[in-house]
Amino acid sequence: MASASSSFLLLLLVVVASASAWCSRAAPAGAQVTRVPGFGGAQLPSKHYAGYVTVDEAHGRRLFYYLVESERDPAKDPLVLWLNGGPGCSSFDGFVYEHGPFNFESGGSAGSLPKLHLNPYSWSKVSSVVYLDSPAGVGLSYSKNVSDYETGDLKTAADSHTFLLKWFQLYPEFLNNPFYIAGESYAGVYVPTLSHEVVKGIHEGVKPTINFKGYMVGNGVCDTAFDGNALVPFAHGMGLISDDIYKEANTACQGNYWNGSSDKCEQALSRVDTAIEGLNIYDILEPCYHSKSIKQVIPQKSRAPQSFKDLGVTGKPLPVRTRMIGRAWPLRAPVKEGRVPSWQELAVAAPSGVPCMSDEVATAWLNNDGVRSAIHAEPVSSIGPWLICTDKLDFRHDAGSMIIYHKNLTSQGYRALIFSGDHDMCVPYTGTEAWTTSLGYGVVDSWRPWFTNEQVSGYTQGYEKGLTFATIKGAGHTVPEYKPQEALAFYSRWLAGSKL
Ligand SMILES: *[C@@H]1O[C@H](CO)[C@@H](O)[C@H](O)[C@H]1NC(C)=O
Ligand SMILES: *[C@@H]1O[C@H](CO)[C@@H](O)[C@H](O)[C@H]1NC(C)=O
Ligand SMILES: *[C@@H]1O[C@H](CO)[C@@H](O)[C@H](O)[C@H]1NC(C)=O
Repeated sequence: MASASSSFLLLLLVVVASASAWCSRAAPAGAQVTRVPGFGGAQLPSKHYAGYVTVDEAHGRRLFYYLVESERDPAKDPLVLWLNGGPGCSSFDGFVYEHGPFNFESGGSAGSLPKLHLNPYSWSKVSSVVYLDSPAGVGLSYSKNVSDYETGDLKTAADSHTFLLKWFQLYPEFLNNPFYIAGESYAGVYVPTLSHEVVKGIHEGVKPTINFKGYMVGNGVCDTAFDGNALVPFAHGMGLISDDIYKEANTACQGNYWNGSSDKCEQALSRVDTAIEGLNIYDILEPCYHSKSIKQVIPQKSRAPQSFKDLGVTGKPLPVRTRMIGRAWPLRAPVKEGRVPSWQELAVAAPSGVPCMSDEVATAWLNNDGVRSAIHAEPVSSIGPWLICTDKLDFRHDAGSMIIYHKNLTSQGYRALIFSGDHDMCVPYTGTEAWTTSLGYGVVDSWRPWFTNEQVSGYTQGYEKGLTFATIKGAGHTVPEYKPQEALAFYSRWLAGSKL
């Protein structure tokens, strides 16, 4: 009898102890999202919180976040910050179209409230995810001082770090969870630069101490030369250009395609451009929405390459629209040091949006007054409409190549997963594979397929210092959108520290 009561006491102690660790929740009053317009389901599978964190009081610069708690064990599961790219694109792209808790179905007519269904492959199955609109001016984030819209890599990283420190003060119950930073496309710059700020803060003893463990980048921008030289070998390997065209380009440009300056090289590259310009840059297997009107709004005098000016121009409009995710990089024009022109500047505000783009459900949902109020965002009347990618920013790529960031972070023991949808032509895997190899780390898990449901889902190579490169077979630029089940598989395995 004594033993029964003491084990009961022990059980009670355990329950009280774990409850007090987790229940000392300090989520800000009123931040919980209790009602999600468009979602008819009885109850959300986990708690959601959303709101603003002011990163600069004097300027009124406020960053918007949406937290989806893990549907498994929010007290123990990792916490992941998610960033979409651009620069200028909202992380609600990830929330709505990639790995958020809901699948969005069109409400029927243009602008009507979409219908939300639970996403069986939501990344909240295994982790808590914070979707952050960054920098100010993007998505639902804004500043009262428009001078803030003149920004760049370094200021963006500093602001996002400030955001994290303040956010963890609001949600101290997450300080013990393993923390990761993840993103895709231009977030290939955001993720390493922010990780670097976080690590510097940890070294300097900045409080609160962030339990940072590593980072993930999908089809990420990294380095002008590696990314800029990736397209020609990609096009060759995918059978988009002939051996002859490839050999001609290789000989004329000597492997240096992004800034090849000889006339011979330019001629060879224009053959490459001609061969591939009808493709959907984000996934060469997907059709592309074409609009005849686009040609008229892109000034032919602009210095964009012809292949870009003609993007989307054909006599056969297709009804299919996929979304522009970040920048539609003109072919062979990788991100360079200095000012990054906005897509809208290049395209001069195509009235019906940009080629290969549909952001209809996201736009309808995020510009609905009821949704804005339910998720604690400022109304359209106050901060204007949500756009998937803004042209408000005057953005400078001022952090240089990401290679030294990757070296620095992995050398300090932070894990890194670098993954590529292998059918993306925007940031082709060929460049990503080449720069990961260039770090010169020893291979600890040599090139092999990885599997989901006993099917090959892609290939992976593991390196020393916790660096993993992986491809996802048949996926485009936004991997979880194309391959949701496979994406959840590699995501959960990598977070758990298992092999892919
Ligand atoms: C906006 O910020 C700039 C730079 O800090 C400052 O010079 C300017 O006075 C501010 N403008 C307003 C309206 O507060
Ligand atoms: C062109 O690229 C090569 C190799 O990436 C580099 O060494 C050279 O400086 C570049 N030239 C210019 C003009 O940017
Ligand atoms: C990483 O960067 C920090 C800050 O710039 C520097 O102090 C440190 O020495 C670097 N570490 C490595 C291993 O490169």
